Amino acid sequence: MRTHFCGLVDEALIGQTVTLCGWADVARNLGGLCFIDLRDHEGIVQVVAEPTTDANFGAGQANAAVIAAAAHVGYEDCLRVTGVVRKRQSVNDKIKTGQVEVVAIDIQVLNKAEPLPFHAHENPGEDIRLKYRYLDLRTPQMQRMMRTRIKLVQALRRWLDARGFQDIETPILTKATPEGARDFLVPARMHPGEFYALPQSPQLFKQILMMAGFDRYYQIARCFRDEALRADRQLEFTQLDMEFAWVDEKIVQDMVEDLIRDVFREVMQVELAAPFPRMTYAEAMRRYGSDKPDLRISLEFVDVADIVKHCEFKVFTDWANHEDGRVVALRTPGGATLSRKQIDDYAAHAAKFGAKGLAWMKVEDAGKGREGISSPIAKFLDDATLAAILAATGAQTGDLIFFGAATYKTASDFMGALRLKLGKDLGLVGEGWAPLWITDFPMFEWDEEENRYVALHHPFTAPAVDDVADLRANAKTAVSRGYDMVLNGNEIGGGSIRIHNSAMQSAVFELLGIGAEEAEGKFGFLLDALKYGAPPHGGIAFGIDRIAALMAGTESIRDVIAFPKTTTAQCLMTGAPSPVPDKQLAEVHISIRPKPQA
Ligand code: AMO
Ligand code: AMP
Repeated sequence: MRTHFCGLVDEALIGQTVTLCGWADVARNLGGLCFIDLRDHEGIVQVVAEPTTDANFGAGQANAAVIAAAAHVGYEDCLRVTGVVRKRQSVNDKIKTGQVEVVAIDIQVLNKAEPLPFHAHENPGEDIRLKYRYLDLRTPQMQRMMRTRIKLVQALRRWLDARGFQDIETPILTKATPEGARDFLVPARMHPGEFYALPQSPQLFKQILMMAGFDRYYQIARCFRDEALRADRQLEFTQLDMEFAWVDEKIVQDMVEDLIRDVFREVMQVELAAPFPRMTYAEAMRRYGSDKPDLRISLEFVDVADIVKHCEFKVFTDWANHEDGRVVALRTPGGATLSRKQIDDYAAHAAKFGAKGLAWMKVEDAGKGREGISSPIAKFLDDATLAAILAATGAQTGDLIFFGAATYKTASDFMGALRLKLGKDLGLVGEGWAPLWITDFPMFEWDEEENRYVALHHPFTAPAVDDVADLRANAKTAVSRGYDMVLNGNEIGGGSIRIHNSAMQSAVFELLGIGAEEAEGKFGFLLDALKYGAPPHGGIAFGIDRIAALMAGTESIRDVIAFPKTTTAQCLMTGAPSPVPDKQLAEVHISIRPKPQA
């Protein structure tokens, strides 16, 4: 059908006859002379249909049929063009093939396109793009982003295969494995009233593979989590899932750090730091209010609870003297030029993350003490307190200092979110790549709603202490052997050393409020397997969609997933989810309850 790809026609082919297939990207009819930009997955080449006396076209023929065909070509028509490559008179530096053009001898319209719902050269909005995803994916920018993902996956596989990792598939129809999200359920036709769950990750299977003697497992695994969708979250997403036997955290971390560095070098020609910096969870929360800080933003928290403990601003004193309170200051260089409206907008942003208010202080002249300050809370602060705040934050003329007061967690959350937004809005995000390991996560987090501990990673993560009694006695402050890999403020991977001892696993279930009977029902197979010689093991899973999005330079993982769901959990192209006929429901023993009244 074709001899060459459109995007790969080059000067070496000058004088040769080629046959190309592709879509008509732009067609210009100048009356008796037509230009068509012909596009395939490799790129675009210019085709020209012109009057000619070249012998190729039959002696003395004016190439009239070809010009007539070209004149009727429409946007996105599928064409097969045969022509002669020649040097282009007006070189186009913007495209790879810009040195040459193809003089058409024959143009066949293989499939005429109807007028399109949108033109790729305009931005029609994501909903339209998703509805007609096949048109969207044809565009060079989507082709580029999807190819980045393909290259990433190829590089990952090559690296792992070369090092003896074994690619093993695990079930999709399985039993619920808790990763903190809601499960997708599949009715079991053969077992009325019973359900399979789609895996939130292959966690338990990969651990059991270690017990089964398959040291060094990997899988490019699809995971399913029924959780709120965001730019970096889909209902189904892809992990590079890995597990190692006979390891401690250093071995796992060193190995996967090499993997990520090598893959970035290969796909992006980028050299990441060696070794990656490391930070404990506690330090990350203290300095940045986040367990995935973007280190490209230099803004950093300063705790001022001790300074404002006795001031007259009640909000500050309340939280400064609260057992679990935090008062944090965030100095923003150059922020003094922000308007009241802009500051109010930042307060509204912080409110989305739990802020009840956002106090601020403009440093108009750092040398003038109180006179140089403009702030709605200055009147509550005596001179010494004011001076101490300026000194602690290192405030300089032109700065704006924001203050957050709340519980440790809430203040960290909303000031962390504010730090990110300020960094982006004020151009304070540095260039380059900032990888980071976060370690020493708390083992448990107290869940106010459920009135019980929940696992910060997952319930199979080993605690730093080996002793069950020690863990029970110090559950509140217990640290786990979990670790996350962060890149430019994104959690790209998370893993841990696992519990490999049945008694410890039972104790952790118990601390999580999972009673012995429930543990047996849900995880009996794991507790059993742990009893028969389970080696120490650990691993990690990387979010391939997130890494691909970072590599492709896009904010949304939807851009590196061929057929993603919208934030309303729908596939606009196929129309999923959709109702099913009663007969099909009956087969799986399901009857639908009426929709709850809104
Ligand atoms: P975790 O839940 O941290 O760990 O997931 C690992 C990585 O997967 C990515 N990720 C997601 N990407 C897109 N959409 C989502 N909804 C989504 N959820 C997670 C993130 C994350 O770092 N079984 C453990 C791994 C282990 O302990 O080895 C697990 O799944 O990049
Ligand atoms: P008010 O006296 O309530 O008007 O608050 C004075 C300033 O303190 C306003 O700028 C509020 O936004 C701010 N503020 C109120 N609550 C908090 C809080 N929890 N943390 C930080 N600032 C706050």
